[in-house]
Amino acid sequence: ALVEQAKRVSNEFDFDADHVRKAVKEFIREMDEGLHTTGTELSQIPTYVTAVPNGTEKGLYMAVDLGGTNFRVCSIQLHGNTTFSLTQSKVAIPRELMVAKTSTELFSFLAKQIEAFLKAHHEDHYFSHIKRRETGDKATEEEIFNLGFTFSFPVQQIGINKGLLMRWTKGFDIDDAVGKDVCALLQTEIDALHLPVRVAALVNDTVGTLMARSYTSPGKTGTLLGAIFGTGTNGAYVEKLDKVTKLTSSNDSGAYDKSTGEMIVNTEWGSFDNALRTLPNTPYDTELDAKSVNPGIQMFEKRISGMFLGEILRLAIVGLLKDPKLPFLRDEHSAQNDVHSTTQIHDDSPIYNQWGVDTSFLSICAGDHGPSYQIIKQTLDRDYGVSAVSAEDAEAIREIAGAIGKRAARLAAVAIAGIVINTGRLNSPTAGATTEQKEGIAPPRGTVESSGKGDIPEEDIIDIGVDGSLVEFYPGFEDHVRQALREVEEIGETGEKRIRIGIAKDGSGVGAALIALVAGRVATGN
Ligand code: BG6
Ligand code: GLC
Repeated sequence: ALVEQAKRVSNEFDFDADHVRKAVKEFIREMDEGLHTTGTELSQIPTYVTAVPNGTEKGLYMAVDLGGTNFRVCSIQLHGNTTFSLTQSKVAIPRELMVAKTSTELFSFLAKQIEAFLKAHHEDHYFSHIKRRETGDKATEEEIFNLGFTFSFPVQQIGINKGLLMRWTKGFDIDDAVGKDVCALLQTEIDALHLPVRVAALVNDTVGTLMARSYTSPGKTGTLLGAIFGTGTNGAYVEKLDKVTKLTSSNDSGAYDKSTGEMIVNTEWGSFDNALRTLPNTPYDTELDAKSVNPGIQMFEKRISGMFLGEILRLAIVGLLKDPKLPFLRDEHSAQNDVHSTTQIHDDSPIYNQWGVDTSFLSICAGDHGPSYQIIKQTLDRDYGVSAVSAEDAEAIREIAGAIGKRAARLAAVAIAGIVINTGRLNSPTAGATTEQKEGIAPPRGTVESSGKGDIPEEDIIDIGVDGSLVEFYPGFEDHVRQALREVEEIGETGEKRIRIGIAKDGSGVGAALIALVAGRVATGN
């Protein structure tokens, strides 16, 4: 009975080829809508990033990164010969700061981390600045760090270092920050500590990933898309400037280089199809959404990303536990059902608490191929208060977890397909290529090349940079994405082979520094 029930639940997560195709059509419709209208589901945010550095720049830059699993502070020394070195520190964001009463609490925490980083890694800089302050002298330009602020939330960008927070995502919820310029919020706290740091550029993690990846990619066409599949999910891609028709003279600051004819657009695809025209919707999705801090929005993200998949699985398990006749996770029913489940779930199991199941558990399930499911059993015992797990129970959980992961990957493919098709890259692969994108700065450490199978000429490659815990750690994520891509007629097997997906691990820090550099160059006219 349990096997059938597990199968029934996992079938609820089916998202077949037809569904994929319908969703891709809707994605393309929403992309176009967002390019000419504001306030749409896909925000399609113009980033004002139109140019990339060419690798000869020198200097020391800083980047901070808020919005993923960790808050990161780094400094990047650009050597001027296409190489750089990177120093970084990271801390997990305390959960209480995500829902702090005021934004000051969060941003002063960030400024303190920057201060600690400067003290630890750039002592000379830090103390010479302190000395100047004491003598009342102003810091010299050389002493001031230009900082790229990777802030991975939807921001209406007004200029390269100015942007108003549209809404929080991924469990953050601090009311007074909404509508404010997040660069100014950070700068105020940096200034309160008298740090020699200027917030020079505001960058979404997807944009940073795209920038960093375009240096690492050996392709001739430049990178098309930077995507995150981590705590949240989102993508930024290279769009033709004249398609961004919502940029009119009244809302266009004009302070960017238009000569490339392109602009990176941050889609904010986490809110794709909030109206659920084409997205799947199980009772578990409905419940997760209703009990989230932002019901009705980020509906795509809530079906794909690491913040949510564990919770979907938890709700599905709780659903099965409600069936008193099912010999699942309890031994008292096994006799009457003639199934000898030994499993015991303890009263204080995190499975009973909202957010109690981590998405890493889905990765563990996908990685344990049985037949005894030792790793799943151990994890349930160690982390989830479920002891003496029977093989049947472990298998049932694995089946459901696998279906949730597979659905997430197939949905991820919808966004990738939409962008690949709608940018016309399948037809004219070299559209938008610039020589600068081919040269440039050496890969960030940890860059992993993957896929692009078969003998595809370099100029036909469509390059995609990805980052985030899900794509990095969920076994088979990319395989499921590729399977779904092949099922989209416009892409098919031939198109799918041309798509190269490469991990740009921690790339967004490097990307943010590069954008800070470009911003500094534009500001000083060099
Ligand atoms: C990191 C990037 O590597 O990945 C961040 O530096 C990004 O900018 C993050 O937000 C996404 O992954 P996760 O799993 O930490 O959300
Ligand atoms: C959320 C944010 C988005 C970010 C993504 C990945 O969707 O809204 O800005 O890029 O998470 O971190």
